[in-house]
Amino acid sequence: MNLKDLYIEFFESKGHKQIPSAPVVPENDASVLFNTAGMQPLIPYLMGQKHPYGTRLCDYQKCIRTNDLDSIGDTYHHTFFEMLGNWSLGDYFKEDAIKWSFEFITEKLNIPLEKFAVTVFGGNDLIPEDTEAINLWKSLGIKEERIAKTVEDNFWIAGETGPCGPDTEMFYWRSNDPVPDKFDPEDSRWVEIWNNVFMQFNKKVDGTIEELPNKNVDTGMGVERVTSILEGVNDNYMSSIWKDIIEKIEEFSPYTYQEKPESMRIIADHIRTATFIIADPAGIRPSNTDQGYILRRLIRRMIRHAKKLNINIDLPFEQILATMIILKYVKYYPELNTNKDVILEVLHNEKVKFNRTLEKGLKEFEKVTKNSNEIDGVTAFHLFDTYGFPIELTTELADELNIKVDVDGFNKKFKEHQELSRTASAGKFKGGLAGDSEIETRYHTATHLLNAALKKVIGPDVHQMGSNITEERMRFDFSCDHKLTDEEKSEAEAIVNNWIKEGLNVRCDEYSKEDAIKSGAECMFIEKYPDKVTVYSIGNDEVVSKELCGGPHVKNTSELGEFHIIKEEASSAGVRRIKAVLK
Ligand code: SER
Repeated sequence: MNLKDLYIEFFESKGHKQIPSAPVVPENDASVLFNTAGMQPLIPYLMGQKHPYGTRLCDYQKCIRTNDLDSIGDTYHHTFFEMLGNWSLGDYFKEDAIKWSFEFITEKLNIPLEKFAVTVFGGNDLIPEDTEAINLWKSLGIKEERIAKTVEDNFWIAGETGPCGPDTEMFYWRSNDPVPDKFDPEDSRWVEIWNNVFMQFNKKVDGTIEELPNKNVDTGMGVERVTSILEGVNDNYMSSIWKDIIEKIEEFSPYTYQEKPESMRIIADHIRTATFIIADPAGIRPSNTDQGYILRRLIRRMIRHAKKLNINIDLPFEQILATMIILKYVKYYPELNTNKDVILEVLHNEKVKFNRTLEKGLKEFEKVTKNSNEIDGVTAFHLFDTYGFPIELTTELADELNIKVDVDGFNKKFKEHQELSRTASAGKFKGGLAGDSEIETRYHTATHLLNAALKKVIGPDVHQMGSNITEERMRFDFSCDHKLTDEEKSEAEAIVNNWIKEGLNVRCDEYSKEDAIKSGAECMFIEKYPDKVTVYSIGNDEVVSKELCGGPHVKNTSELGEFHIIKEEASSAGVRRIKAVLK
């Protein structure tokens, strides 16, 4: 049985509900470009919000990590990967989590105990050593010398702040060398296969730690790594996940995998990630900012390596590889099929575009290196920014001419560029707006009214989970465990139209974040806001809506026109989506 199916079936037998994989581009959190861990979409629930599927959840989640793009090419790094996870939201804790992990590892995956070891949290000034976990592992038959204690590596947090806690990690001896009796987590022949995090704390912006309302469990198991372990291969790209893709690349190239493993792994990895990014409901396309920028780099780097392998890039090799990926994963991610045509088209178009700028870029490269024996950072960045030259391409070409490249200078410029992009996305998040034309401003105010109306119709547990505005329509995602009835929709619509008719004033006040929350203002993720915030209140005598928001908004609701809900549909687990227009 496939590892994903085996995992889900096992945790369902332990009372867990399977939740669908969330999109790979987070819908409600502009602080990260992609979901980097299975727990990321669950942060609000780990922080205490009620999950519509209950308190025991399991899933496989699409994740993307691009911080170590340069490591791709070795045997075990991937930009896209799948993470299996099971969660307890204030339900079971250490005992069941460890017991079930052990049962799954030994009875379902049949991993022999002599190749198994664990790490546990060793304790620091704030949190004591996890003796409970140590004793649980011992009671299951794990010998003392196979239990290592560490501090930094056994405390898990997704970023700088948020839900976190001590963890216990499980390791497998992935080597043909004899297994040592004593476990040394620093020995790279021991590879981590599963992480159980006991999430009971929240790390705040000021660095302090507070108890969460619930004691949660968050576990994560990497599909790629465990698959290759189960199949007995030491190179992930030789497991059934990749083997046919690598063989197809070999067919296109005069080289074999043994001769050019790095370029082949880069192509295999990048085409899979690009396919999933394009298929995501966020509709990401190659561009020069945010996720689109990553997508562009991945495709271009893949093309460059195809050229290195002497692949005839006029052939639709990228489309053939993407089709193989789609077929391989469609059972688990139906969006691949829905967006099949667009995936193939985007990959092809970006290839053609890069090929065009590549020629121009090579000319520019010749020009800038004609009378110089060094490429400064600004020029390297110009080649990157204007001609789409990844820094590796510039340094490789320069190497051939014995010319130096100021890579540090390039990185500095690149960092500045990234910061600009980040500021752009933070700005977008603050206001939920991509632009602020007059019509978009009207839609923005309408989202506040709809949010307040839904609370009246469905209940106070409705919270905004995301929004997106264009000149044509508004989209509003909110937490709700059921499809809205026709009555609920018309009631919400009528309430909003009534507020518009009443001509309510829209007021903007500045508060400290704390005071804003005390005043009862609605907000999405409080940690994401700066210390000073603006609060928009709508109402004349009675305030009907009060939200933390960066604006802009209309002055009076009478400016909005008529409000119509045109669609109500599911967005993701426990999240509904309304599309509406103003006429
Ligand atoms: N959050 C933990 C991890 O990513 C467990 O899911 O490893």
